[in-house]
Amino acid sequence: MRIVNSVAGMQRLARRWRAGQIRVGIVPTMGGLHEGHLSLMRRARRAVGASGQVVATLFVNPTQFGPGEDYTKYPRDLGRDRRLCQEAGVDLLFVPRAHEMYPQTPDAEFSTWVSEESLSQTMEGASRPSHFRGVTTVVAKLFNIVLPDVAIFGAKDWQQAAIVRRMVRDLNFPLKVIVAPLCREPDGLAYSSRNRYLDAEQRRQAVVLRQALQRVRAAVRQSKRPLPAATLRREVKAFIQQQPAARVEYVEFFHPETLQPVPSVQSGTQMALAVLVGKTRLIDNLCL
Ligand code: PAJ
Repeated sequence: MRIVNSVAGMQRLARRWRAGQIRVGIVPTMGGLHEGHLSLMRRARRAVGASGQVVATLFVNPTQFGPGEDYTKYPRDLGRDRRLCQEAGVDLLFVPRAHEMYPQTPDAEFSTWVSEESLSQTMEGASRPSHFRGVTTVVAKLFNIVLPDVAIFGAKDWQQAAIVRRMVRDLNFPLKVIVAPLCREPDGLAYSSRNRYLDAEQRRQAVVLRQALQRVRAAVRQSKRPLPAATLRREVKAFIQQQPAARVEYVEFFHPETLQPVPSVQSGTQMALAVLVGKTRLIDNLCL
């Protein structure tokens, strides 16, 4: 497995691959790798085939973290991440340097942003202003540098995947976005780099996100009529807050593609939630 740090070096290779008609799959990550990330890398391999190139990128993107969020304490272990990428069959790990991704000189700061302005307004976008502007900007930059034919994103970040899809369509990026299924630990907790912030007691309580999603799915499947979102939201909040460490940030019911909130919930509605467990912010979602 090759490791590339410089933008120019990555661009040279990408141009060579394109000239040789070699298919390229990209898996953008911020590291702190877990089984969820590795499943995307294996999906990328299936998409580009044995003769293609699977590129994983590792960059803790400062512009998608708000003030007071966990940018400085975000897990960074390049040795471990490198080994996991290699085991997952990645061909090239791109680990750009921050000063190349966000060039800055005394007289010229970084000042060009890509921002999606519709799907980004709700849920994560409402809770974390400017988060998605950071995501779309860095993902657009990675696409420009790596020139992928396919890009793999996880259903764990449902809203992020929808926004990237929209950006690719709106800005004519010549690539296909694949959204891969959400991977869970054996007890149902969605894999996340942030799970390692949880202590043992919080880790036990964190399964409540998944339990809440499943309870709503069961209720929706048993009901003959659509159920009012407002009632479900109240019940879900009460259910989650039985866990002493848990505080609900949002519970949303929406159309899976347009992300439009729906007043009544039925089979096929997408549900997403964000919950603080102690100081750790966790998100999860499910198709009901
Ligand atoms: P990160 O949180 O590292 O996630 C990288 C990719 O892994 C995302 O597409 C995410 O949806 C996916 N992923 C995370 N947990 C998963 C799980 N349990 N199952 C399936 N897929 C999972 O998302 C980001 O980084 C950043 O915003 C990024 C897109 C890299 C831009 O900086």
